[in-house]
Amino acid sequence: MARNITLTIIKPFAVQNGYTGGILGKINEAGFRIVAMKYLQMTPKQAGQFYAVHKAMPFYDSLVSFMSSGPVVAAILEKENAVEEYRKLIGSTDPSKAEKGTIRQLFGKSIQQNAVHGSDSDENAEREAAFFFSEIERY
Ligand code: CDP
Ligand code: MG
Repeated sequence: MARNITLTIIKPFAVQNGYTGGILGKINEAGFRIVAMKYLQMTPKQAGQFYAVHKAMPFYDSLVSFMSSGPVVAAILEKENAVEEYRKLIGSTDPSKAEKGTIRQLFGKSIQQNAVHGSDSDENAEREAAFFFSEIERY
């Protein structure tokens, strides 16, 4: 059984509104194992590095400012087909288009403030996990 990882971030708006527990509950119910987790606030420079792939996009500056506006919860999640399974659990980028019962539909407010991040490939999951966690922080 191929168990692999994905990286999630509970975004500032969701943390500020007290959705952390509800979101972690959905993650647990869906059968993900938490490999690593931390509570931190990114600097604008760190948020810019994390989203460097979107640098050319019109929403980049605003996204970097939002993602560094308050504390987030970052976690590595493990499950069979973790990346794909977690993208299914969170739903579409735009919460108004996300399927019923998905994390973004339940807890998202706008396309930017869509409650959580989820990696989009195994390769990016590894890179994003390494951005937040060293080997000795993973269990
Ligand atoms: O997060 P996801 O992989 O579903 O979407 P993305 O296309 O990789 O975009 C990354 C993040 O940028 C989104 O989760 C949104 O927070 C933000 N975004 C935005 O602010 N405005 C857009 N038009 C698209 C994305
Ligand atoms: Mg993405």
